[in-house]
Amino acid sequence: MPKERLDKLLSNLGYCTRSELRKALDRVEINGEPARKVDQKVEWFEVTWEGEPVDPDPLWILLHKPEGVTCSHKDVGRLVFEMFPERYLMRKPALSTVGRLDRDTTGVLLLTTDGAALHRLTSPRSQVDKVYRVDLVDAPSSEQLERLRQGGGLLDEDDKPLLPCAIEVTGERQVEMTLHEGRYHQVKRMWVSVGNQVEKLHRVRFHRFGVGELAAGEYRLLSPEESLDL
Ligand code: URA
Repeated sequence: MPKERLDKLLSNLGYCTRSELRKALDRVEINGEPARKVDQKVEWFEVTWEGEPVDPDPLWILLHKPEGVTCSHKDVGRLVFEMFPERYLMRKPALSTVGRLDRDTTGVLLLTTDGAALHRLTSPRSQVDKVYRVDLVDAPSSEQLERLRQGGGLLDEDDKPLLPCAIEVTGERQVEMTLHEGRYHQVKRMWVSVGNQVEKLHRVRFHRFGVGELAAGEYRLLSPEESLDL
């Protein structure tokens, strides 16, 4: 990555405005040395703010999304973006969710400031694996399972047939499904299309990322190495 001015970098990372940095230069070190000038050319990993390394650029967050929060910047009720420090919300480019989970869906949600990766991962052509644990209202029949596994069905108001998907039965009324596409309310609509209904939905995995040790509502940053193949 090319070096950039310290004031521009810190403002894009949400720490302070360019003009505020003039008074806050004593909070910043570059490669262990006190920062000297606001227009010094730096890379993000050389910089500390109040003794802590600054947040990575781009920023990648893995959140264990809890129930009852919405993946939107504006809505009634709790928003997913309120779960992070203020400076993440001041980032340029802005922080966005990688696709959406419904308000009542829990599990793995990635967020990023990497616009190109976001576009790639949310494009209809993206084949990234998404694994869901689905609790159903009724025990799934073999016919329902077969129809969804085969693909080819049409969802309400869609004209593109569904792709095949893997479904493993994990309980009397529970399945684990692996999807390679991401349509609006896809899992819920798929089960409605075959005469069943989703009671509870949890995303177990997005690509190779699971929630691991994170409790609902907790998050961690991905390391630059982890985000490399996204
Ligand atoms: N499919 C749904 O129906 N809802 C989600 O939140 C995710 C996938």
